[in-house]
Amino acid sequence: MKHNGQTPASFYNRIVPVYDIFARHNIKPYRKILRRLNLEPGKSALEVGCGTGNLTILLAAVMRRVVSIDFAAKMLARAARKAAARGVTNVTFRQENAFDLTTERYGTFHYVFTAFLLHVFPPVDRQLLLSRVARLADERVVVIDYAPGRYRLRYALIEWLERSHYKEFINSDLPAQATVTGLDLVQYFEQGDFGVWEFKYASGRSE
Ligand SMILES: C[S@@+](CC[C@H](N)C(=O)[O-])C[C@H]1O[C@@H](n2cnc3c(N)ncnc32)[C@H](O)[C@@H]1O
Repeated sequence: MKHNGQTPASFYNRIVPVYDIFARHNIKPYRKILRRLNLEPGKSALEVGCGTGNLTILLAAVMRRVVSIDFAAKMLARAARKAAARGVTNVTFRQENAFDLTTERYGTFHYVFTAFLLHVFPPVDRQLLLSRVARLADERVVVIDYAPGRYRLRYALIEWLERSHYKEFINSDLPAQATVTGLDLVQYFEQGDFGVWEFKYASGRSE
């Protein structure tokens, strides 16, 4: 499925060689976030937009099984190389557009994680994506992204290159957007400049 104004996979494929120069600084906060989420052992996770795998490798250590998808083949290849180098065996990488995820092809997972993906999209696509991934989550959807109201010039520059919706995202109300898709906020916390939103299906499907 193609969306107007979406940054293409070719852009992410081009930035792979430099991506981790910036993104490796996310590993420490990701580790702290996973600790703070108090994840129960033995669960499965779908990771949407895994990039070079910085969160993937940490998820693999706390989940029984992880499926990580990204639409950029070179991002995925780097993630797979990093996972293999660390002896990770419980992650499956698949090249997929996040908007094309379906339960028919993927089944469901206890958790769906997505890190630094939602700000990439305009609000209408953000909501569409949330509604898509909500269907694949039996228990929780966890979103990690820029914390609201914390404008940083260094992020604004990176995001200008990425042609994302950074400024609009940090001034938007993600829980309100998620409610429309049937997701209710369970908790929100901040880890440095990162916001973490934990959602559950409002219908109580997993309760
Ligand atoms: C800013 S990076 C974040 C990567 C990773 N989650 C992290 O925290 O380092 C965004 C990632 O989302 C992927 N992405 C963007 N749009 C996508 C889409 N429609 N479907 C699948 N992946 C997408 C990009 O290829 C890129 O790897």
